[in-house]
Amino acid sequence: MIDRDKAFHILSQYGQEHILNYYDELSDDEKKELLGQIEITDFSVLDNLDAEKNSNSVRGVFAPLGAVTTKDIAAESDKYIGIGLDAIKERKVAAVLLAGGQGTRLGFDKPKGMFNIGVNKELYIFQCLINNLMDVVKLAGAWVPLYIMTSEKNNKETIEFFEVKDYFGYDRRYVKFFIQDMAPSVDYKGKILMESRSRISLSPNGNGGWFSSLVRAGLLDEIKEHGVQWINVFAVDNVLQRIADPGFVGAVIRSGLQSGGKVVSKASPEERVGVLCLEDGKPSIVEYYEMTEEMRTLLDKDGELAYKYGVILNYLFNVDKLEEICDRKMPVHVVEKKIPYMNDEGKLIKPESPNGHKFETLVLDMVHMQDSCLAYEVEREKEFAPVKNAVGVDSVDSARALLKANGIDI
Ligand code: UTP
Repeated sequence: MIDRDKAFHILSQYGQEHILNYYDELSDDEKKELLGQIEITDFSVLDNLDAEKNSNSVRGVFAPLGAVTTKDIAAESDKYIGIGLDAIKERKVAAVLLAGGQGTRLGFDKPKGMFNIGVNKELYIFQCLINNLMDVVKLAGAWVPLYIMTSEKNNKETIEFFEVKDYFGYDRRYVKFFIQDMAPSVDYKGKILMESRSRISLSPNGNGGWFSSLVRAGLLDEIKEHGVQWINVFAVDNVLQRIADPGFVGAVIRSGLQSGGKVVSKASPEERVGVLCLEDGKPSIVEYYEMTEEMRTLLDKDGELAYKYGVILNYLFNVDKLEEICDRKMPVHVVEKKIPYMNDEGKLIKPESPNGHKFETLVLDMVHMQDSCLAYEVEREKEFAPVKNAVGVDSVDSARALLKANGIDI
């Protein structure tokens, strides 16, 4: 392990020497803990605070991308579902649940999937997702391998929860957990926050590292051994999420394209959602804040929004392509968040509003690494009920209303 001088040298390159302020007062174990953290932390993410060095601040030329619409899908549905079910039966499809986030907006102090969305009965977010996946398992007569990404902050609690709940009836042999990487968080001056005198404030480094973390956990070998060709990646917080949806899988396979993304039609030009489009001729997602007024309101020849299809964090990737792009550096996004930190009196503060920045890579940037992507339109009311906030838009209340509207007993 590195010693104090080496640690000081590393930190001074990034203007973070304050991390060692309490070093001399620490016990031997605490010193080891802090030096160990400094040794494994990738401080180069801090460069992204400097807009000029931030790789994702430069974007290419955007153009609209069409989708297979709900109407197209209805006309071909038997065909798509047949192809998808065959692939699932042949064990060519696996699913990855991204559950490493901290869900700070929801303000729930446990892993988000442990949130009880039920009203008259217990119905946990994880349970909703497993129930949805079970629909496909029953239809295909085959289990879909499910890999769950957690972070060091929530891994133990997540696994214990699944154990206590007996995996909500899923065959546990088909469920594996893996842990994502962490990154330091900073205050608005760019200084790394501390959790205690001997611990840097580390947060999960975004959902973009899911594949490299899966590889590092040794799970790619078994994925390949089992002949899995497609991985459906999805977010924990959409309680209506269709997972390993045979229609989606079948449509992507039939299209011959390299990947797929589920999309919903934007409710209005102003809706704050990332849109699947083309960037320099490759599939890409343009965030709502990156769109100009002209892009937001542009109409196509049918009078529909040209940039119409918003993503819902449900993608289908091809394993061979994922392996090919695995080592590519992903853009780092600097995001404003509420970050618990130790104040000058040594007290841990849990702020009520954002107080600094975290560094995240995002799965949506993987879409731009694909040669092609099928935008597959789904009905928002049937498949999109995100639980992001405690109240208001995309909240517990709106998700409950959508669950009820879909006939789910809560
Ligand atoms: P969000 O972008 O909503 O982030 O995650 P979050 O951390 O869950 O919530 P807020 O922003 O703090 O309120 C979208 C999906 O990506 C996963 C989340 O668990 C969710 O399924 N995620 C996010 C990770 O797996 N790891 C991360 O580091 C961040």
